[in-house]
Amino acid sequence: MQIPKRASGLVTAALLAAGAMVMNGGPTAAQSGPRFTPGAEGAGDAYFPFAGNGGYDVEHYDLDITYTPPAPAPAPLTGQLSGVATIDLVATQDLDRFNLDLRGLDVQSITIDGKRADEIAPPAAGATVDGRAYWQVQDDTARVWELTIQPRPKLKDGESTRLKIKYGGATTRPRDIEGFLYGWVTTRDGAMVVGEPEGSMTWYPVSDHPTDKATYSFDITVPEGKVAVANGLPTGHPVTRNGWTRWSWDAPDAQASYLTTASVGDYDLRVSETPGGLPIIDAVDDALTPNNAAITEASLALQADMIAFIEGAFVPYPFNSYGAIVDDDTVGYALETQTRPVYSLRASEGTTVHELAHQWFGNAVSPARWQDIWLNEGWATYVEWLWSEHTGDATAQASFEDIMAIPADDEFWELTIADPSPTGLFLDPIYNRGAATLHALRLEVGDDAFFAGAREWLTRYDDSTATSEDFETVYEEVSGQDLGAFFDIWLRTPSKPAT
Ligand code: TRP
Ligand code: ZN
Repeated sequence: MQIPKRASGLVTAALLAAGAMVMNGGPTAAQSGPRFTPGAEGAGDAYFPFAGNGGYDVEHYDLDITYTPPAPAPAPLTGQLSGVATIDLVATQDLDRFNLDLRGLDVQSITIDGKRADEIAPPAAGATVDGRAYWQVQDDTARVWELTIQPRPKLKDGESTRLKIKYGGATTRPRDIEGFLYGWVTTRDGAMVVGEPEGSMTWYPVSDHPTDKATYSFDITVPEGKVAVANGLPTGHPVTRNGWTRWSWDAPDAQASYLTTASVGDYDLRVSETPGGLPIIDAVDDALTPNNAAITEASLALQADMIAFIEGAFVPYPFNSYGAIVDDDTVGYALETQTRPVYSLRASEGTTVHELAHQWFGNAVSPARWQDIWLNEGWATYVEWLWSEHTGDATAQASFEDIMAIPADDEFWELTIADPSPTGLFLDPIYNRGAATLHALRLEVGDDAFFAGAREWLTRYDDSTATSEDFETVYEEVSGQDLGAFFDIWLRTPSKPAT
């Protein structure tokens, strides 16, 4: 075929361009030369950019901890913790290095699949580091607490690794971004351990974000006479030797890092069982005031009934055991630590059913982003409303009407509950507007779709995490209704919804 000169030039240019692309194909293939890259230093949460990490999934944490509580007053309120964390993880990308979160404690040594890494000073950004190494960054002002580990050989996508991290230091009373006590909170008689939202990094090296759930086992050694209570079930009896007692616990259901506890105190332990055979282990501080002790006993005696009630409304209890840790402390709030909530000073009936409800709403199904916290607190508060109605007190409708009686110009209605900002996670509207949203949803779709939707939510996202958008999708599917406008008004509009 005859090709006119000019056209041929164009074709040549096109071929050259194509050739250039092919040439680029070479280096593109070789671009997988530096395909081993660092894992992200956060899980991608807009509210806590350095919480959690990228590039791997943790499967199991085995935490072997020795803890010495503070000496009696007036000694300072600090304890001593030393631990060995054995962490099994799987790379989810070709990894040159990766991070864990650890705040306020020093790493003494790390082995990676049995091979020792060297501790080095943090290298300059972008600098290469030779050999197997680790380093720590502790920036309290920026709230950046990272442990970086450089494995050698590098980790391939899909490869499993076992880390053994020896660490320790003085324990303090850490605070969250709002100034609330959290994490390993040192108390005079031990420690109250409550890690929401990213406080677990104050007591073990962790990928501290709910999207990386894992199983846990614990050995907690404390001075003889102290009791250490963690998640799940005890493995055998406590072992006492030379004035120290080792308490061992096993939590075989996947759990979010903020839901781990290993609280230590002068607890009285009681073991019982629900009629359905679920073990209940309660640990109650022997120093509660008589009034708080009486309130606590009455509430804890209702746990089996509460479990049966929630199972009847939704789906079976999701874990292997339950129970409470009630501490004499100044933390000032309770936390739904998995299988074993921790309570401050007393367990009231309302708080007891609230923390129990979180085992389904928050623990089995956890928020994928911290901005989705209303899914935890709205549901737990709504279950309080349902329990109140069940026991002959205020109906859910009456509780809803109480919220709707708040005047439209009250600042209560100004919080966008599906995006409350990192310092708005525990504000009253997250709880009460959250619960009112659920009741309004129930009025919108009817009882059948409301409870079917909740069961679908708990089934579809069991052992996992989900977002507000996932929640909306479940309810649109189950109800067959377009709920876009409904959710925009209730979740994303900073004013009082009209009813
Ligand atoms: N999630 C806990 C609950 O509602 C509450 C919680 C965690 C909290 N951190 C807090 C409440 C800080 C007030 C302040 O069960
Ligand atoms: Zn709650």
